[in-house]
Amino acid sequence: MINATATNSPGKANGLIKQYDEKYRPQFHFTAKKNWINDPNGLVYLDGEYHLFFQHNPFGTQWGHMSWGHAVSKDMLHWTELPVAIPEGEDDAIFSGSAVFDKDNTSGLGTLENPPIIAIYTSNSDAKKIQTQAIAFSLDKGRTFTKYAHNPVIDLKLEHFRDPKVFWDAERKNWVMVIALPKERKISIYTSPNLINWTHQSDFGSQGAVGGDWECPDLVELSIDGVSKEKAWVLLVSLNPGGIEGGSGTQYFVGDFNGKEFIPNNNSDKPLWVDYGRDNYAGVTFNNLPDDRKVFIGWMVSWAYASSLPKTAWTGAMTVPRELSLQKAGNSLALVSKPIRELESLQVKQLFSATNLKMKDYGFIKKVSGKELDISFNIIPGKSKKSWINVLAGKKEFTQIGYDADSGEVFLNRGTSSESMAILDLLGVQKAPLGKVEKVRLRILVDRSSVEVFVNDGQFVMTDVTFPDSQKSDGVAIFSENKDARITDLNIHSLASTWR
Ligand code: FRU
Repeated sequence: MINATATNSPGKANGLIKQYDEKYRPQFHFTAKKNWINDPNGLVYLDGEYHLFFQHNPFGTQWGHMSWGHAVSKDMLHWTELPVAIPEGEDDAIFSGSAVFDKDNTSGLGTLENPPIIAIYTSNSDAKKIQTQAIAFSLDKGRTFTKYAHNPVIDLKLEHFRDPKVFWDAERKNWVMVIALPKERKISIYTSPNLINWTHQSDFGSQGAVGGDWECPDLVELSIDGVSKEKAWVLLVSLNPGGIEGGSGTQYFVGDFNGKEFIPNNNSDKPLWVDYGRDNYAGVTFNNLPDDRKVFIGWMVSWAYASSLPKTAWTGAMTVPRELSLQKAGNSLALVSKPIRELESLQVKQLFSATNLKMKDYGFIKKVSGKELDISFNIIPGKSKKSWINVLAGKKEFTQIGYDADSGEVFLNRGTSSESMAILDLLGVQKAPLGKVEKVRLRILVDRSSVEVFVNDGQFVMTDVTFPDSQKSDGVAIFSENKDARITDLNIHSLASTWR
């Protein structure tokens, strides 16, 4: 049995828990109470609880001592951090992977009366320069894990072979694993009857974006245009570097899965991106969710600068959970990501609403301020070239989100968001290629040091961290280059902290 180390539970105090009220500390995004986190691992639901395991350094604010941290939630928003679930071993670190509920006890590691949660992870040995796949089981709802006595379950004697994502294939009645061969830019597919004996079935790649190591794949079947019976398979592949804006990023392929191979719908070399911002990496979906929901969480930082962010007690946050689906776009299918509906329960107060605003009257929206906001509106550009909104806005600093009618792009610009940002590799404008439209709908989630932009209900997403220097940078302002543009159906809500 692995002994739990220090209990990190935030407990329940009245009001905002002090530790979670630091200047840049996200209020409705998961962060560890203290120390470093990276990839979400082992997202799994069981008996009313959502489990979030994550890459964690329990001993410091930089990457190292990789272990699986653990938090549980009843709504994917309010998280309680539990003791480290799988600590590093004597000569291995616990790298990324996934968790499944082995309901029928196929592994034999539990019983039919008390089936196990099985974690499937990469055991990384720097000394031996080897990455193998290992499993650990829990018979107490993820509170403690025991490493399987006969690990590894897959050993190809490779230095780079990692991040197994496993799911139950209900049609073929076996387990499926997708796993990265990072240097070859390939994803291997394995199947197993019992999570212990694995058979290699196929490899996919190298195509799409190949400018970095392929990591953290996920293969998931999504419904199309909300019709539950129409579905297609999506393969998510994170890569670092080589993302859309340099740094790390996650691309996706749409296609079919026949139980052994992933067959992409087209072999285009033009990559499709899960997120057009710079800070959404290694995202994967939950296993075993009720109602067949497909909910994704990513790590909301980029490897390009994760180690040089402003100093805080915690390093790294997760994105808000996002519901994934597909929509038809001409002859192809495109990924749609929306914040989970549960997020609306955090809308504590409507700060402002307007059905039709003329730009000529605007600038700062008076009496509206906040650093945890849910803002939605349409931009109708008319003859205006650029129309935008500033958030986390003060006298000198602001983060801009808007639509450029000339280029047909939605943009997110954090280059002006703080003076200290200039020292980081955080500058530059990110762009989502929407095309020329008469109206664009934006939903923007602001959380102290992050901005997530959902374009047209999830057609494009842009996620960026942003670190305003001044505590007073909490305004919202609206602008356009000429005054023809309009903003319609504007709603600004403040969002409650989930750490109360
Ligand atoms: C992705 C990654 C994974 C690896 C983990 C180590 O961010 O590099 O490939 O398993 O982080 O922390």
